Amino acid sequence: MSILDVVSIDKRFAARAGGEAAPWVIQGLSFTVAEGEFVTIVGPSGAGKSTILSMLAQVEPPSGGEIRLHGQTIYGPGHDTLKPGLDCRIGYITQDDNLLPWRTLEQNVLFPLEVQGRLDAQAREHAAQLMQTVGLAGYERYYPHELSGGMRKRAAIVRTLVYDPPIILMDEPFGALDAETRATLQADLQRLWALKHKTILFVTHEIAEAVALGDRVLVLKRAPARVIAEHAVTLARPRVIDELLVDEAFVRHYETIRNQIR
Ligand SMILES: Nc1ncnc2c1ncn2[C@@H]1O[C@H](COP(=O)(O)OP(=O)(O)OP(=O)(O)O)[C@@H](O)[C@H]1O
Ligand SMILES: [Mg+2]
Repeated sequence: MSILDVVSIDKRFAARAGGEAAPWVIQGLSFTVAEGEFVTIVGPSGAGKSTILSMLAQVEPPSGGEIRLHGQTIYGPGHDTLKPGLDCRIGYITQDDNLLPWRTLEQNVLFPLEVQGRLDAQAREHAAQLMQTVGLAGYERYYPHELSGGMRKRAAIVRTLVYDPPIILMDEPFGALDAETRATLQADLQRLWALKHKTILFVTHEIAEAVALGDRVLVLKRAPARVIAEHAVTLARPRVIDELLVDEAFVRHYETIRNQIR
């Protein structure tokens, strides 16, 4: 059963004052995501990956096409009011971690629950447990500037998991990290995904990461963005990139996608 249907989406940003019309960033983009699936989108820089996630999270309107959640139109003809985050049904981990600098790690992580008026003892316990899982226990009272980049990324992930959205959009969350931290977080993420039965749509420009994490990889071309290929990846989990680099099936996927992106 598909949880998310993207049907022939187009996107063009507004023209600059006095300038000519902006080009189409996305044209005729379609794909579906099944419930519980881990889908990765891989494409070059500037392809429109962040724009796609922003449209799914309803912080940016498409210029045309339709988006359905559980078969119901959430954006399309006759449905053109944006509802950012869709009542917390869609979690969005943006390319920047967006932690509030004047709040401690714990206060940042609990922020969405506080805003929703759902901050009780049980929610605090859940947050503490998630922080423990990703190695943030002991840093609750630290401010973002006192944490490393990898810790801030983990905090942003916990902040989203803590209010339990069924769908999570992730925009290159491990982009700026060193290889080792990245491998740890990739392992954490796979564990959390399996444990919490989430649906994840994960954007990256790294082919190896896309193949290692995804049940399915969507390959994006740019200018305008469109899905040009789909790869079902059936490698056993949990998957560790370092070990996969010598796996024949992995290398085959990797090389096919590299040629498709070129
Ligand atoms: N708010 C905006 N106004 C005008 N143009 C925009 C806006 N946001 C994005 N764009 C344009 O849309 C295109 C796609 O940008 P987007 O950020 O979605 O790419 P991306 O695939 O996420 O790239 P990266 O891998 O570098 O993060 C770019 O040409 C960018 O200039
Ligand atoms: Mg981006």
